[in-house]
Amino acid sequence: MSEAGSAPTSGAHSGSGRAISATKGDILVSCQGLQKSFGDREVMKSIDFDMRAGDITVIIGRSGSGKSTLLRAIAGLTDPDDGRMVFDGEVVFEDQKRTPAWKQVDSHVGMIFQSYTLWPHMDVLKNLTLAPRKRLGMTEKDALGRAEKALAEVGMADHIHSKPVQLSGGERQRVAIARALMMQPKLLLCDEITSALDPPVAAEVLDVLRRLKEEEGIAVALVTHDMAFASKAADRVVFFHQGEIAVNTTPDEAFNHTEDPELKKFIEAVRF
Ligand SMILES: Nc1ncnc2c1ncn2[C@@H]1O[C@H](COP(=O)(O)OP(=O)(O)O)[C@@H](O)[C@H]1O
Ligand SMILES: [Mg+2]
Repeated sequence: MSEAGSAPTSGAHSGSGRAISATKGDILVSCQGLQKSFGDREVMKSIDFDMRAGDITVIIGRSGSGKSTLLRAIAGLTDPDDGRMVFDGEVVFEDQKRTPAWKQVDSHVGMIFQSYTLWPHMDVLKNLTLAPRKRLGMTEKDALGRAEKALAEVGMADHIHSKPVQLSGGERQRVAIARALMMQPKLLLCDEITSALDPPVAAEVLDVLRRLKEEEGIAVALVTHDMAFASKAADRVVFFHQGEIAVNTTPDEAFNHTEDPELKKFIEAVRF
């Protein structure tokens, strides 16, 4: 994942690393045997997990089961202890470290968190343009153009000069999505981004993700407790249990036909 303030990358085109060749249906990310422990606690036991370009993958599971750890590993915010990751056909993690290929693709991975991570003292425009201006050396004009487009995509064009404090929680999360879009990601990782929002507001934010998939072909992996969204919009549902992927299937299978006892219990617990 790209980070604000890191050194500018070289490269002739718009600057966000190399172009991604995976198109809808191709495997975009492959995780193979990912392991991670904190002390003697195995948080990822041996995770095998593929994500296809343009798919929405909903990740569910109890608190502490390892969901955030997997997203953070894919985003480059944490490294597994072992295993391999392949992004768009190139090995980006192997032998316990990131490979040089990771730097070529990391800007295509965006991550959004539950708590608002906008800079409070900057307006929306500045929040969006800071990283691309610094990291990609983008001109002010280009950054403005891209910000206008990103805000339009999340329905926030009218708020370009607002400060975060003037926005509602749902609006802030839509701005956070727009900020991730500035780097033109192929993959958005969303970690409980609607957990602090009222259900109708949460539904609007999640609907933005669905539009981004449909209109921009962006793959989305999201951790959520919103089973309605999962059953409507997900291509895949992944159920984490104690550091392992216990179920990886279609929403219909997961919610209506699963034989997995832990998933059954989980669905019963969250349903009402
Ligand atoms: N940096 C860390 N140091 C120590 N333990 C951690 C750290 N990050 C996560 N854990 C532990 O790893 C387990 C899985 O965490 P996490 O991936 O956040 O689960 P989930 O997102 O499914 O709730 C939890 O028990 C958590 O306390
Ligand atoms: Mg978590």
